[in-house]
Amino acid sequence: MSEVSQSTPQPASDKDRILIFDTTLRDGEQSPGASMTLEEKLQVADILDQMGVDIIEAGFPIASDGDFEAVQQIAGRVKRSVICGLSRASAKDIDRAAEALRPAERRRIHTFIATSPLHMKFKLNMTPEQVLQKVTDSVTRARNHTDDVEWSAEDGTRTEHDFLCRCVEAAIKAGAGTINIPDTVGYSVPEEYFALISMLRQRVPGADDVIFSTHCHDDLGMAVANSLAGIRAGARQIECTINGLGERAGNAALEEIVMAIRTRGDVLPFDTGIDTRMLVRASRMVSTVSAFPVQYNKAIVGKNAFAHESGIHQDGMLKNAETYEIMRPEDVGVSQTSLVMGKHSGRHAFREKLVALGYQLGENAFEDAFKRFKDLADRKKHVFDEDIEALVEDEVAAAGERIRMIALTVISGTGGAARATVTLDVDGRHETRESHGDGPVDATFAAIRKIVEHGADLMLYQVSAVTEGTDAQAEVSVRLEENGKTVTGRGADTDTMVASAKAYVSGLNKLMTRRAKTAPEALRAG
Ligand code: KIV
Ligand code: ZN
Repeated sequence: MSEVSQSTPQPASDKDRILIFDTTLRDGEQSPGASMTLEEKLQVADILDQMGVDIIEAGFPIASDGDFEAVQQIAGRVKRSVICGLSRASAKDIDRAAEALRPAERRRIHTFIATSPLHMKFKLNMTPEQVLQKVTDSVTRARNHTDDVEWSAEDGTRTEHDFLCRCVEAAIKAGAGTINIPDTVGYSVPEEYFALISMLRQRVPGADDVIFSTHCHDDLGMAVANSLAGIRAGARQIECTINGLGERAGNAALEEIVMAIRTRGDVLPFDTGIDTRMLVRASRMVSTVSAFPVQYNKAIVGKNAFAHESGIHQDGMLKNAETYEIMRPEDVGVSQTSLVMGKHSGRHAFREKLVALGYQLGENAFEDAFKRFKDLADRKKHVFDEDIEALVEDEVAAAGERIRMIALTVISGTGGAARATVTLDVDGRHETRESHGDGPVDATFAAIRKIVEHGADLMLYQVSAVTEGTDAQAEVSVRLEENGKTVTGRGADTDTMVASAKAYVSGLNKLMTRRAKTAPEALRAG
């Protein structure tokens, strides 16, 4: 499946252009439980490319064969954005990143090493002089593979200024074109980050010939503010993620940065190349594939971001929308009405709706989706855009999975233990098991566990409604943990138990992929 471009030509502008470097697929995917399948990563890469992201950090190729393959496939598929791969400062890492990036039309190697006293002493066990030598060696090696090299000073905001200047100077001399100053632990405040970028630009020889970049984490809730302070100080690249996904509290949220720049051009005289009308779609896709729900009151893309409940606000809005709205909902891709169709809608209308939502399916995928739409319309009076999106995303998430849900019957109520009978397709073989449980979810999961044996603990079970009404589709997320590794699964259906079973199965599929990387026999289907 590939997406349809909805981007419009950017108006000519005399404002300074800020490069948007998206790291949803690398730093974002690193957050516990947010791992994505290859198919999901390709979908995310497509949407990032279409929305105008300048650089896509597609992964960390040395980390695993799965990461390598994802970077390689994204590199071979994306035509517009620069594709970037991360590497530590070792030759092996850098060469592996270069190999994964080979199919890309435009490629970047991003190499990093920690520069703060704390990290050098306790993590790297290296002296500052050794680290400095590594900076030169790693950038030089990366430059042998590509002209486009980015160097990062991990824990840059807690690094001594004199030493940071020496490292940046060494990276520039060795040929790095982008210098990234991460606030790795989200410790900085805007004034301090502004001063740091300004200091580097003033003091380091050759600073005028490179692009400075921000990479801010959100541990104190200041990632976006710090990134904006960075560009006011002269940085011209911002590293960020959709929905602010990322290690611990996450990274700076792409949608917030882009809309802050667009909305407050008076104090932030910059431009990005992002088609803002795709922000909500990208947010939903990333939320779906990572199974990280977007909080209702999240800026820009939360369900309530444009909702007006109080009488005074509604009255103001009716008189003039600008009274309470600083951005137009349609500018971020919120559709005014999302009611689509019902069971009488035909193939043509369904295809048009998919295109309007940005999906272009191949014939087989279209027929599958249409069948599922008809099934849904039989059970649900009104089918909304959100329902169609959940249905197509479900299809995407399930592509290539080894275990699929075939049938489920649950009996539960006040009369005793619940009972579930589940049929799964495991590698093309149908298996049915029955189990009792403490409630319908427990019984369903127990029956699935009888078919797919595993030692994972269920850490989270969460249900939300895709739309309003009692016939709304339920969207279920589960988080499973095994040996300290977490995966998240997701499923949607008008029947909450079916959605739950789908979510559990999707989590098991992810666990299977993850375990196969390290111990192929650890998760048995039996
Ligand atoms: O937060 C960080 O320091 C990073 C680097 C690897 C760029 O993610
Ligand atoms: Zn980071």
